[in-house]
Amino acid sequence: MITVLVAYAGKHGGTREIAEVVGEELRAEEFEVDVCGAADVDGVEKYAAVVVGSALYYARWRPEAVRFLERNADALRERPVWLFHSGPCGPAANLVRVSLPAKVTLLAAAIDAERTETFGGRLDPATASGVLEKLMARGERAGDFRDWERIRAWARDIGRRVRSGVAI
Ligand SMILES: Cc1cc2nc3c(=O)[nH]c(=O)nc-3n(C[C@H](O)[C@H](O)[C@H](O)COP(=O)(O)O)c2cc1C
Repeated sequence: MITVLVAYAGKHGGTREIAEVVGEELRAEEFEVDVCGAADVDGVEKYAAVVVGSALYYARWRPEAVRFLERNADALRERPVWLFHSGPCGPAANLVRVSLPAKVTLLAAAIDAERTETFGGRLDPATASGVLEKLMARGERAGDFRDWERIRAWARDIGRRVRSGVAI
């Protein structure tokens, strides 16, 4: 069976749930899938393909996701890698495409990653911690803007690409 890794980093669980849905969709396509926090991954050698996702905070990726890319850069360069980030909230959440932070742009180029996908995020006033988070999670930005159908379709597309790449 072809094994795929979905590694994620976030703060409040929204990105983990996206990673889990990506994993679920890939499993439905008959892949073996590990969905892991980026800090917990011990090498990517056993995976045919890797998906890496981070929440966006202050226009940056979470440090665990950045370190994952740095730590595994050599091995990632040898396999197909898809990146996503989740963040935008509010009415236009799923219409914007956020550029990779500068540091991640360099890493993505070094590992020759596929184009990054942006998914809407979730801002839950109930779990916001600290003044800034509480300020962010107000008004029309508060809510869950993750578009599950878009996320599932993206995962299925990755599945098709991995399968055809491996078959060649
Ligand atoms: C303090 C703070 C800063 C944020 N900064 C950004 C940002 O720069 N860009 C963005 O698109 N989303 C930003 N967001 C939205 C988060 O990325 C979004 O809530 C995401 O779904 C959080 O994922 P998590 O639940 O995995 O932590 C920010 C949220 C907070 C609370």
